[in-house]
Amino acid sequence: MSRLRKDFLWGGATAANQCEGAYNLDGRGLANVDVIPHGKERFNVVTGKRKMLEFEEGFYYPAQNAIDMYHHYKEDIALFAEMGFKTYRLSIAWTRIFPKGDELEPNEAGLQFYENIFKECKKYGIEPLVTITHFDCPIHLIKEYGSWRNREMITFYERLVRVLFTRYKGLVKYWLTFNEINVLLHAPFMGAGIVFEEGEDQDTVKYQAAHHELVASALATKIAHEIDPENMVGCMLAAGAVYPLTPKPEDVFASVEMSRGNLFLIDVQSWGYYPSYFLKELERKNIKLDITEEDKKLLKENPVDFISFSYYSSRVATAEKTVEQSEGNLINTVKNPYLEASDWGWQIDPLGLRTTMNELYDRYQKPLFIVENGLGAYDKVEENGEIIDDYRIDYLRAHIEAMRDAVDIDGVDLLGYTTWGPIDLVSAGTGEMTKRYGFIYVDRDDYGNGTLARSKKKSFDWYKKVIASNGEDLA
Ligand code: BG6
Repeated sequence: MSRLRKDFLWGGATAANQCEGAYNLDGRGLANVDVIPHGKERFNVVTGKRKMLEFEEGFYYPAQNAIDMYHHYKEDIALFAEMGFKTYRLSIAWTRIFPKGDELEPNEAGLQFYENIFKECKKYGIEPLVTITHFDCPIHLIKEYGSWRNREMITFYERLVRVLFTRYKGLVKYWLTFNEINVLLHAPFMGAGIVFEEGEDQDTVKYQAAHHELVASALATKIAHEIDPENMVGCMLAAGAVYPLTPKPEDVFASVEMSRGNLFLIDVQSWGYYPSYFLKELERKNIKLDITEEDKKLLKENPVDFISFSYYSSRVATAEKTVEQSEGNLINTVKNPYLEASDWGWQIDPLGLRTTMNELYDRYQKPLFIVENGLGAYDKVEENGEIIDDYRIDYLRAHIEAMRDAVDIDGVDLLGYTTWGPIDLVSAGTGEMTKRYGFIYVDRDDYGNGTLARSKKKSFDWYKKVIASNGEDLA
């Protein structure tokens, strides 16, 4: 007897800018995600400290061509289908649909591209799961309007979603409004196209931008339901349970605060109002946000249908200032002495996934969807072409076991599970290709060399078996 739902949505997840390439084809405009370079300036650009709004001499921009899925999507979706995918999570590049962002009419070539992808998925019985924006924001909207700090962004986003929901009615049912909405607090340029001006209060800018995204998300949820009551809309959080470093009460409270610092955004998306702890924080910091009565009504009346999240690791908090930090998913955390780490220093904690699922389910009482989980690792191609990625299989097995326990033992309602990067793609954090997550290897290095040929790793057949057994056979 399988413990997961019969219609459990197994699959994989990608983002437009990390796989499509073809950045200037068929009318596509330029976005923030295009102008984030590989190399040591990346971090400063991503966090909005270094302004880079166009391509600059001497830098390599991996999103320009990525793995050229724009031209390989049929081959790639056929491979996903061979693994038995029930769903494929992908994102729309906003600038394929509205190249500048503020046009009144969409770009037909962009709309057609995604229609082709969705139809290709349907051919194999794969349900598309669509992230409306996965970190991307048109450069024109950044230059002309200051991106999400500006309320007018809600209008541009509304125009985008109306077009998408109308055009893809009957083809797409599952939608996520903003990928990892909390990332805008930690990587404002990548997360929301925010570049800080000299002397401005950064918290005020970030919270106001976040508020505009929350209103846009609620509006999108409303429109999605109006256009097709079958539509299911989810929020998306870069999640990870926060542990106190020690049982010292101050550490425990630090973990509560760190946790809230990420959850307040999806509290709003799920409950329909700002939690009191966040409103108090604004008061304490003397931050006055522009939140209208109409905004409040929209938020209240349009909560999301389900909670989706990425999970790579748990986090650790302490009240102490001088403790060793760990690498992580764009959110700084303290090192956990009990955990091993990946090649990139991300700590590995499968039980933390179960804890995270329980926390989210207890808090929101809505179905969950794990839309990202996976291991970024160096892969070695053997002389005979094989790639024996047992470390990836081990990572995924342990996480799927923990996920099953959350469902089976704890009673969490879970819609599906999509691994991050079922095919190797450009890393969001580092811009590297060699930080590989895929079941499918792509011949491309960190500087754009390689044939782009696709080949199956050992994990390909393993994941196929996992899906065929609905998560029972993890051997
Ligand atoms: C999430 C993002 O933060 O983690 C993805 O939604 C990203 O876009 C993934 O690729 C893994 O992070 P990284 O830095 O290893 O690519």
